[in-house]
Amino acid sequence: MTKVKILATGMYAPKKIMTNNDWKEFVDTSDEWIFERTGIRERHISSRDENEFPSDMATYAAADALKTAGLEPNDIDMIIFASVNPDYKLPNTASVVQQKLGITNKCACMDIAAACSGFVYEFNMANSFIKTGLAKKVLVIGSEVLTQEMDWTDRRSCVLFGDGCGVAILGASDENDGSEILATNLGSDGKGGEYFSHPIGGSVNPVTKENIENKEVFMRMKGQEMFKMATRSMAKCAKDAIADAGLSLADVNWIIPHQANIRIIKTVAKLLDAPMEKFITNIHKYGNTSAASIGMALHEGITEGKIKRGDIVLLDAFGAGLTYGATLLKY
Ligand code: ACO
Repeated sequence: MTKVKILATGMYAPKKIMTNNDWKEFVDTSDEWIFERTGIRERHISSRDENEFPSDMATYAAADALKTAGLEPNDIDMIIFASVNPDYKLPNTASVVQQKLGITNKCACMDIAAACSGFVYEFNMANSFIKTGLAKKVLVIGSEVLTQEMDWTDRRSCVLFGDGCGVAILGASDENDGSEILATNLGSDGKGGEYFSHPIGGSVNPVTKENIENKEVFMRMKGQEMFKMATRSMAKCAKDAIADAGLSLADVNWIIPHQANIRIIKTVAKLLDAPMEKFITNIHKYGNTSAASIGMALHEGITEGKIKRGDIVLLDAFGAGLTYGATLLKY
């Protein structure tokens, strides 16, 4: 059976940085409140003038990953793109990225909607496509401009989010190569859909003059309910993936959780009885970047020299839906 590994990763963070103190211009808040309650110090904000739309950020990050992997754009034969706020409704953004990367092989391109679990969903999908021989080299992308989707006057949610992109290229492991994806799981509990939603702008509730005026066109979140669901599902996903691989937590070198709130990550650590030193976190720099967050943290973990070939790494996500999932891999 073909084994699948990470060939390379990449990321892009928009140039503009907004600190917690910068938020004081928009809402009644403080650096102390935001940092203490969330672990966030600053986040990056995408700019139209700098060409930092989801497909652009993805193209910059993917070009880097291709270079690292020593691949040409046409070596990619599938692109999976995850975002809460893609470039357009149509065409899908994966196809836009295909064009921007100069890929001419007409590779399969799809967008998925799994909110913050998007990157882990893509990882697990790419693993299946490669294992079954339907694809050889899959580019997976999480690219988000959530700062365009939030109400900049709602202090309960606006300070949490940031923009950015994380990518990975997955392909078959060479013979005698120890790297492989060891276990995957995906799930969703639709009962929790109301805890984090964006109900305006789809077919049920199209955008109208009224709902723009009433400021109903933004994401809505019940933070405390999300917090509880997040900690429970992340701990369960992690335990299941580790058990499925026949390993124990002691075998895992690094855990890369979705970066939504440092208190969520610390609670998951407690539930797993895992030391915080195993967790790769960068929420202080980027806030919650949704589908991009795990890809960005994975890339930084690798490029900063923490994650080395042969290490066992757990990717652990939750998001609106309520979707969740984990990937356990030997890097
Ligand atoms: N600055 C100052 N005060 C604030 C702010 C702020 N930015 N936001 C809220 N407060 C106030 C509230 O008004 C409240 O005051 P009150 O008691 O006078 O009404 C007080 O602080 C406490 O508010 P809570 O909402 O109870 O604060 P909590 O400790 O629950 O933290 C938070 C809120 C950070 C949203 C937390 O619940 C959380 O992180 N939840 C999970 C969110 C999450 O994971 N979202 C991601 C979903 S999926 C995805 O990643 C896309």
